[in-house]
Amino acid sequence: MVFLEEIQKRRTFGIISHPDAGKTTLTEKLLLYGGAIQEAGAVKSNKIKKGATSDFMEIERQRGISVATSVLAFIYKNKKINILDTPGHKDFAEDTFRTLTAVDSVIVVIDVAKGVEEQTEKLVEVCRMRKIPIIVFINKLDREGKDAFDLLDEVENKLGLRVTPLSFPIGMGYDFKGIYNLWEKNIQIFESDQKQKIAKKIEYRSLNDPDLNAAIGQKSIDELNESLELVEGIYPKFDQQEYLDGELQPVFFGSALNNFGVQELLDCFIQIAPPPLAKSTDKRLIQPDEEDFSGFVFKIHANMDPNHRDRLAFIKIVSGTFKRNTPYYHVRHKKRLKFSTPNAFFAEKKEIVDISFPGDIVGLHDTGNFKIGDTLTAGEEINYKGIPSFSPEHFRYINNADPLKAKQLNKGIDQLMDEGVAQLFTLNLNGRKVVGTVGALQFEVIQYRLLHEYGAKSSFENLNVFKACWISTADEKNANYKDFLRVKQKFLAKDKRNQLVFFADSSFSLQMTQQKYPEITFHFTSEF
Ligand code: G4P
Repeated sequence: MVFLEEIQKRRTFGIISHPDAGKTTLTEKLLLYGGAIQEAGAVKSNKIKKGATSDFMEIERQRGISVATSVLAFIYKNKKINILDTPGHKDFAEDTFRTLTAVDSVIVVIDVAKGVEEQTEKLVEVCRMRKIPIIVFINKLDREGKDAFDLLDEVENKLGLRVTPLSFPIGMGYDFKGIYNLWEKNIQIFESDQKQKIAKKIEYRSLNDPDLNAAIGQKSIDELNESLELVEGIYPKFDQQEYLDGELQPVFFGSALNNFGVQELLDCFIQIAPPPLAKSTDKRLIQPDEEDFSGFVFKIHANMDPNHRDRLAFIKIVSGTFKRNTPYYHVRHKKRLKFSTPNAFFAEKKEIVDISFPGDIVGLHDTGNFKIGDTLTAGEEINYKGIPSFSPEHFRYINNADPLKAKQLNKGIDQLMDEGVAQLFTLNLNGRKVVGTVGALQFEVIQYRLLHEYGAKSSFENLNVFKACWISTADEKNANYKDFLRVKQKFLAKDKRNQLVFFADSSFSLQMTQQKYPEITFHFTSEF
């Protein structure tokens, strides 16, 4: 019974946004409500400062912070909330995509003035593909921004969502007066002489309350009435099942910095957001309440201390309980492993725990056993699905700059790739190694880490590749397929799992190749 209650208590989610929309600020305010931290400013911003692309110290500092903020857990109203950190910087987008495989729902933060931005579009697309339940939080209402209805339109059109507001702003920016909470049916008034500082809340039960009139004036009440009529006329009624199915997305308005609308968001979130969900494997669907433990690695973090090469593998528990000092089955290695110091995460600290439940994340010390996507079970031969690699955007040859250190270099490259820092390809023709990354910044990170953690000097050499496509065909004996392998020999490589990859050097050549070889499918992710 306790086991089932523990599962029902958990809410594991991620906050996603374009950098600067207010993800860190919102996270911090949520932690304040959970009593997990005592004051604002305790969660360091985990974004890489603009323009600091060559600042290695900054990269290292960020890595340190991102371990500390990888999972932030706290208890709120008897619910165990696990927030999984998702890097906002676009060069680390792939990290975020992988983290999304471990969340049961997400909150998307949008800046009221900037509206839907590029990074948000990409991340939400991934959530939509996976039917992850989404709540939208429109932030910075204390600033001048876009009209609320225009924003809702933008969210629908650009993000392809079907929205329904569960709160609605009264005014905006200088005229921001408060929030009408459609979920709890009350109004909160924003009272502040300095808009950027503190907000006081006054609750009203109805629009006819004379005190409300005194607080915001008849004009605002009339405008609000009009807006609410529109909301009722245009948007679907909130339906929890539709939200859980990824078919309907509730929207909240507020200001994270001023702590306005945040508690409303959290209170609604714990009522509607899903507890840990079932997850597919290559064999069957695994339910969280199954007795046997199973989970998967969605993130690996190298330690900050270059003298100790141990790493922390982050495991999302899908079913059963994970117990300390218990042998579990590493499916890829076909061997049992025991963990004497599994870490659980609370706000900013981590501590050793004896037992963890579905929805929880445990951090396991690893000396090189784990790769992203690995499955750990009580003994069953299953593999969790859904940690694909996407085509990198940047490609460079990696060369060894110190022939005496070839071993160190190979080991370093191997381990960094296991961590998911970048993807490694080996050219079919000459066996040269090519590193593919999502952002140019990663090349610097790789070179720096190879040198400082493995003592290996490397250099990069440009390679003109537009996209890497994973190749499949129904019939490998087909003459046309064989022709493709021969003609395109120079552009073929293997990824780390030995899957065949085609390097297209331009969008045009990719199109031509696709046309010429219709029996071949060109995939843009490694999982198909
Ligand atoms: P991110 O994690 O999504 O990148 O965003 P972050 O929370 O760091 O917020 C980005 C900037 O927006 C910060 O200002 C933050 O204070 C501000 N901000 C967040 N929420 C609100 C809000 O509700 N209203 C207003 N007006 N601003 C908000 P900064 O100047 O870049 O950083 P800082 O010096 O304040 O830390």
